[in-house]
Amino acid sequence: MAAKRIAVTGGYGFIGSALIRLLLLETDHEVLNIDKLTYAANRASIPGAGNNPKYRFAEADIADARAMRKAFEEFQPDAVMHLAAESHVDRSIDGPQEFIATNIGGTFTLLQEALRYWQGLPAERAGRFRFLHVSTDEVFGDLGPEEPAFTEETAYQPSSPYSASKAASDHLARAWHRTYGLPVLVTNCSNNYGPYQFPEKLIPHMIIKALAGEPLPVYGDGRNVRDWLHVDDHARALLLAVEKGAAGETYNIGGLNERTNLQVVEAICDQLDRASPSPQGPRRRLISFVTDRPGHDRRYAIDASKIVRELEWRARKTFETGVEDTVRWYLDNRGWWDAIVDRGYKAQRIGTGA
Ligand code: NAD
Ligand code: DAU
Repeated sequence: MAAKRIAVTGGYGFIGSALIRLLLLETDHEVLNIDKLTYAANRASIPGAGNNPKYRFAEADIADARAMRKAFEEFQPDAVMHLAAESHVDRSIDGPQEFIATNIGGTFTLLQEALRYWQGLPAERAGRFRFLHVSTDEVFGDLGPEEPAFTEETAYQPSSPYSASKAASDHLARAWHRTYGLPVLVTNCSNNYGPYQFPEKLIPHMIIKALAGEPLPVYGDGRNVRDWLHVDDHARALLLAVEKGAAGETYNIGGLNERTNLQVVEAICDQLDRASPSPQGPRRRLISFVTDRPGHDRRYAIDASKIVRELEWRARKTFETGVEDTVRWYLDNRGWWDAIVDRGYKAQRIGTGA
């Protein structure tokens, strides 16, 4: 694959940083990371980036049209991989405004500026240009226990302010393709886990609380089901989509790893007990059922057969090996998450059962 210039939005977040680590390590592509540096961003998530001649950073809000115009004009990207978003469902329930501003307003501005830039490209470069809009399985709403997994044809039925804002942004991205011809692709992925995930999300939240010997707050009855995918497998799927995917197409990405939240928390407890036994005994004793998340989706499941068939994507990690590696990473990289915990990221409802 010829070297490209790729602008990644949200590159200091969990998935964006995994994607940039992959791009810098395994490809010749040059990267411009456009990130506003919200609470969820972390410069330490791309170690060594500052010394890499293939890497540049622009601190900017995707909703800032002038900044986006300048970034595109200066960097001259061959592709935009758009991951910047407010991403945490609980925060969207407590304060939806930022979700509307970034996920809808920011995506709108980015599409407008990408369109303007793309319309000014010579025909050959315009034909190769791609705008990859990274989205979520949450836009489809939830499934009953026996219902088939979400396909690319499943109708949207979002439940939370977060998923509604992502659904709106997906519609905008597809409309910019259909109406203006911008070469947009959309991916909808299931729950990611792995290293460098912000501690408010289920898996790191439980690892960190279990290590502290604190109660592990499982929402409701713990039987909500998510389909878990290792973040590095997601990053590889995104790279394939931008390199080989067809403009106008949507690709679902998922791990075929459906687990109840309780199963996930138990797996974390058992793995921690093996890797770092507690003098107080097995950590499953810490599991505590708390008030459910309002509007909590019951089950997600992704049918990823299209990306497997058309782009020959395969997940490399099983959930079992992935969780083992992830627990090990949090044990070995305490400095990364201690700094976040010290900043008091918990100043909101998560984990309180409130
Ligand atoms: P994250 O919250 O860890 O990171 C988001 C990043 O975007 C941060 O670095 C933040 O500073 C940046 N950002 C936020 N608002 C911005 C703005 N206005 N301008 C510029 N940068 C801004 O998110 P994540 O978990 O890495 O998710 C990345 C993308 O993938 C999101 O679009 C999300 O909806 C999607 N997604 C996430 C998952 C998951 O399991 N985490 C699954 C499927 C899809
Ligand atoms: O499905 C993809 C989505 O996965 C992404 O689009 C989102 O950006 C990402 O945050 C994630 O959303 P979830 O709401 O599924 O992730 P979260 O880690 O917040 O919660 C996972 C499940 O665990 C969910 O059913 C709620 C439950 N939970 C979560 C926390 C933080 C608990 O039971 N206790 C907790 O403390």
